[in-house]
Amino acid sequence: MRILVTGGAGYIGSHTCVELLNEGYDVVVIDNLYNSSAKALDRVQEITGKSLTFYQADLLDQPAIDAILDQETIDAVIHFAGYKAVGESVQKPIEYYHNNMTGTLLLCDSMRRHGIKNIIFSSSATVYGDPAMILITEECPKKTPTNPYGQTKTMLEQVLIDIRKSDPEWNVILLRYFNPIGAHKSGKIGEDPKGIPNNLLPYVAQVAIGKLPSIGVFGNDYDTPDGTGVRDYIHVVDLARGHVKALAKFNEEKDVRIYNLGTGHGYSVLQVISAFSKACGRELPYVIKPRRAGDIATCYCDPDKARRELGWVAEYGIDEMCMDSWNWQQKNPNGYAD
Ligand code: NAD
Ligand code: WQD
Repeated sequence: MRILVTGGAGYIGSHTCVELLNEGYDVVVIDNLYNSSAKALDRVQEITGKSLTFYQADLLDQPAIDAILDQETIDAVIHFAGYKAVGESVQKPIEYYHNNMTGTLLLCDSMRRHGIKNIIFSSSATVYGDPAMILITEECPKKTPTNPYGQTKTMLEQVLIDIRKSDPEWNVILLRYFNPIGAHKSGKIGEDPKGIPNNLLPYVAQVAIGKLPSIGVFGNDYDTPDGTGVRDYIHVVDLARGHVKALAKFNEEKDVRIYNLGTGHGYSVLQVISAFSKACGRELPYVIKPRRAGDIATCYCDPDKARRELGWVAEYGIDEMCMDSWNWQQKNPNGYAD
């Protein structure tokens, strides 16, 4: 099978390319490198000893995407490409709605015209908002997200459901990721945020490497065991493997399928700092700061549907996630810039 991976040079996309190549799939990547480096794809090929096809192109440039699809015979699309920074999306709603919504609509239109109707979409736990229940199952009601980024995820889920309704030839899989962290064991690929990181793990990693002085813990008065926010961190390699498992569903009855991809365990900010301190061999300094606007206390999932239907279970725990993240950070203190 030949798989088109949009956003394949990015953090989750590059790890997914490794797992796809390891499982014998042919891989074609489209990425405009807005938030990534072509080096990630060189490293994917180094890790696997296999080659992939890369097109530097923008999903908003439909003639370019059509030209690629004219040339390639694609069986299924894994669609990662999009903007993903929650805070930035509040500042730049037009850019976020345009890139994520229009980019996906144009992609689906090109897919349809080329007879490609199998798609896996990167959705997010953000669609559950402040979740109505813990553990979060796929039946947990969606809530209105508080930011444009989250809105694009919840709306694009609906767009894909409606496309499937209009044409039963479509096969749609919505994967709702919890908090992906960690890096490939080789330390050759990992998360490479631009500027000061917004997310906890890259921030902690930059404190560990000495680029930032201390971690700001956003609130210690939540209703959680130690008062800090609790999340379902998932190793990015486990997450990547979830996509490979999901592809097998395209051999079954055409449908819309929705899966949570998380571990089912919640860790607090202080537990993450402690696990990373163990990984890097020194106590990492932190200061308690006020709560961050829009944050929730607790978010972790019930991943049992993915286990039952995809035969997928996350293998790695928080210690391994932190060790692999630290390995990547040490080997690439400036990300792909070196
Ligand atoms: P990333 O920014 O590392 O990867 C996204 C890739 O898409 C980048 O390489 C970027 O250059 C590319 N891209 C963006 N707009 C494009 C366009 N118009 N045309 C072509 N390429 C374009 O992000 P990631 O962390 O790997 O996330 C991948 C997907 O998973 C995103 O859709 C994101 O919203 C979703 N997701 C991420 C997380 C997370 O915490 N990382 C959680 C839930 C969902
Ligand atoms: C985790 C915990 C913070 C930074 C985001 C998106 C979500 C999804 C995953 C895409 C929280 C605390 C953080 C820091 C801190 N992405 N924190 N100090 O907010 O759970 O999820 O990424 O879909 O949509 O919202 O992840 O890593 O930002 O925060 O104390 O410097 O760490 O308050 O409790 P979050 P995060």
